[in-house]
Amino acid sequence: MQEAQFDPKILDKIHQLQEKFKASGQDMLSYLEGLLYADYLTYWEYINLDVLLSLQQPKTSFKDEKIFIIYHQITELYFKLIISEMEQIADQHAISEDFFKARLERILMYFDHLISSFAMMWKGMEREQFLKFRMSLLPSSGFQSAQFREIELMATDAFNLITLSKRGEFDYHSPSDDLFEHLYWQQGAIELATGEKTLTLKNFELKYGKKLIQLIESYRRKNLWQKYMELESPSESMTELMRQFDLKANVFWPLAHYKSAVRYLQRDPVDIAATGGTNWQKYLPPRFQKVIFFPELWTENEMEEWGKGWVVKEIFGDEIQKG
Ligand code: HEM
Repeated sequence: MQEAQFDPKILDKIHQLQEKFKASGQDMLSYLEGLLYADYLTYWEYINLDVLLSLQQPKTSFKDEKIFIIYHQITELYFKLIISEMEQIADQHAISEDFFKARLERILMYFDHLISSFAMMWKGMEREQFLKFRMSLLPSSGFQSAQFREIELMATDAFNLITLSKRGEFDYHSPSDDLFEHLYWQQGAIELATGEKTLTLKNFELKYGKKLIQLIESYRRKNLWQKYMELESPSESMTELMRQFDLKANVFWPLAHYKSAVRYLQRDPVDIAATGGTNWQKYLPPRFQKVIFFPELWTENEMEEWGKGWVVKEIFGDEIQKG
């Protein structure tokens, strides 16, 4: 009788709630009482705004250092979004092309944002300030971005990421720790003077080495390339998305990034002290490392021309063609 006083829609919801709580052995009345005391959710709590805005802690008093920190944080958040899409692709059983394409399109969109916003780095800070505050940040470097390495290792078979001169010596079955030791960036971060690993690399390995070796192992069968191979007969548009991903991750983003290094760091080897210690002019341009996630999708000539020609011109004009 009493039930009649209630809107049937409310009653229906209460019944559904009752079922839900019963299924998990919980007392619905207690939860309803909890609702009485709970505050309304606010925007700032939901997105953790106070915490987010407290995460910018410059090491110097140069105003432009904040831009440098925030842009790195923005990039890491985009990396997180990219990884989340890659996880979805990796963990989807019997993946359909539609599902794959929708996630890949999101990844490309995130990369487009990163590539176009990189201008914040090459024209959004005063060079004089950058060169000074950068010295207080030694020996840290974006080189130590673990999420960047995760994206690479989730994209392709790890032997495609081996340093160019040794790439032919590894294959799908090479042990993960062996692969890890010969990844291109391990060889890139060798001190010019001593031939030893840079401190930047040593610190990075200490924190992330184990995790990355495990990632190589766990993505051996489910990296993006392996998932692509699972598709029975991928359409041309599917293949084109894969190629676009390869270009954006391995040519366009690296070139946008390289443009910052060219803009801020002198071309003189003396300036190497202002970085994580690599010979960056010979390390950062994509034409030297030739990191290609999906070599099967490119012609020999396209791979030979990787990171050269019109692509470089498009971004830099004639500015750094020589290198
Ligand atoms: C003014 C801006 C920047 C300059 C001058 C710069 C400079 C450099 C240099 C010289 C290296 C080579 C490693 C080293 O010696 O430290 C490097 C590597 C790297 N940086 Fe930056 N960087 C800038 C901004 C960024 C930003 C915003 C990110 C975003 C996370 C980033 C991520 C990376 C990554 C992932 C690497 C490793 C690249 C690879 O191994 O191929 N950098 N950077």
